[in-house]
Amino acid sequence: MLVNILVIGSGGREHALSWKLSQSSKVDTIFTAPGNGGTQNNVPINADDLDGLADFAQKNNCFTVVGPEDPLAAGIVDKFNKLGLKVFGPSQKAAQLESSKIWAKDFMKRNEIPSARFEIFDNAQKAQEYVESLDYNVVVKADGLAAGKGVIVCNSNDEAISAIQTILVKKTFGDAGNRIIVEERIDGIEASYIALSDGDVAIPMATSQDHKRIFDNDEGPNTGGMGAYSPTAIIDDNLTKIIQEEIIEKTIHAMKKEGIVFKGFLYAGIMIRDGKPFVLEYNVRMGDPECQPITMRMDFDLYDYLVASVDGTLSSLPPASWKLQSAVCVVLASKGYPESYSKNDEITGFDSISNGAIVFHAGTKKSGEKILSNGGRVLGVTALGDSLESAITNVYSAIEKITWSQKYNRTDIGKKGLSYL
Ligand SMILES: Nc1ncnc2c1ncn2[C@@H]1O[C@H](COP(=O)(O)OP(=O)(O)O)[C@@H](O)[C@H]1O
Ligand SMILES: [Mg+2]
Repeated sequence: MLVNILVIGSGGREHALSWKLSQSSKVDTIFTAPGNGGTQNNVPINADDLDGLADFAQKNNCFTVVGPEDPLAAGIVDKFNKLGLKVFGPSQKAAQLESSKIWAKDFMKRNEIPSARFEIFDNAQKAQEYVESLDYNVVVKADGLAAGKGVIVCNSNDEAISAIQTILVKKTFGDAGNRIIVEERIDGIEASYIALSDGDVAIPMATSQDHKRIFDNDEGPNTGGMGAYSPTAIIDDNLTKIIQEEIIEKTIHAMKKEGIVFKGFLYAGIMIRDGKPFVLEYNVRMGDPECQPITMRMDFDLYDYLVASVDGTLSSLPPASWKLQSAVCVVLASKGYPESYSKNDEITGFDSISNGAIVFHAGTKKSGEKILSNGGRVLGVTALGDSLESAITNVYSAIEKITWSQKYNRTDIGKKGLSYL
């Protein structure tokens, strides 16, 4: 019997997951809630309306796949499980690895998972004194979810003190900033490591590297991610083994020992310094935009693997196999992102893409036959190539075809990957 799927979310990650799941011979209709201008069968229920989503999944007999972190942190998986609905993703307790950075840091400390030195504060004066006692630069982090904005990387004590004020005193991130982490700034090369777990085993996904800053050469403010490629040579076989065993498996096993079964995608944001990996943070879902190049390289039925994660049967599946090609995703954003930008601008050129590139939608919406911009990160154009260099050529030739008045993209996505080869 074919199964219906409900993908929750509205970003490029969710479009990519739907795209891959739609290739499964076991899948019937894929619904997306609330979806975007590129996703099929959009259901007008927001990701925070857990009752509405449960009701829809029940009536349409869906296997639900949760894309973003907010519904996971709100306990959507626990809720669906209570109702007997099949749902992919971690429980609310397991999602604490992402929803409380303090919980995650304490967890890593007691389980000896490599991460930056840190202290926790709820008092600005004490945090400031701590900063002044250190002889290294720090990063100041709000504890809770802050839509990727609650982390301030500091170049001096003055910057750290102003970051402490921003989060703890001005409360720029609301209650997410009731407590902060002040941690050592680790200067190295950042990459993403994502695995799929069923609570016992963890299958590595292909390696990838994001480009967080808005401008070329990694300059300017942090964004949700301006592009990503897979695989990345910076995580070689040796480092893969270390990260897989000493970070991912250690995390899954320690969670289990503490009574929390982690099912879902476990994402470790890694900083590599002198060949040694440090965990900057966990996410409990696929990265966006890393998901786009990773799904394009999947040479397996993603539905089978997501079901096995839920059922606890991942060890009975063959290892995930990957296309040997490289994949590169370039994010097309609205000018002005990550600050202010316009919406409702018409985008054209979708039909002229011919070289196998896929246009994953993020901040778009449909208006009749037209596609309009509807967010900061608008599209994630993704292409394969027999080498990283050819994937870069392919993706940049594809994005030329897509035009709108406010289009902005980095011109160097994947380039740093060439320097590790
Ligand atoms: N200890 C650290 N040293 C250096 N850079 C860091 C450190 N922690 C975070 N960063 C930088 O800040 C970015 C955002 O931090 P992260 O912990 O991933 O939080 P979030 O994704 O929730 O904003 C990271 O991608 C990394 O570039
Ligand atoms: Mg991050």
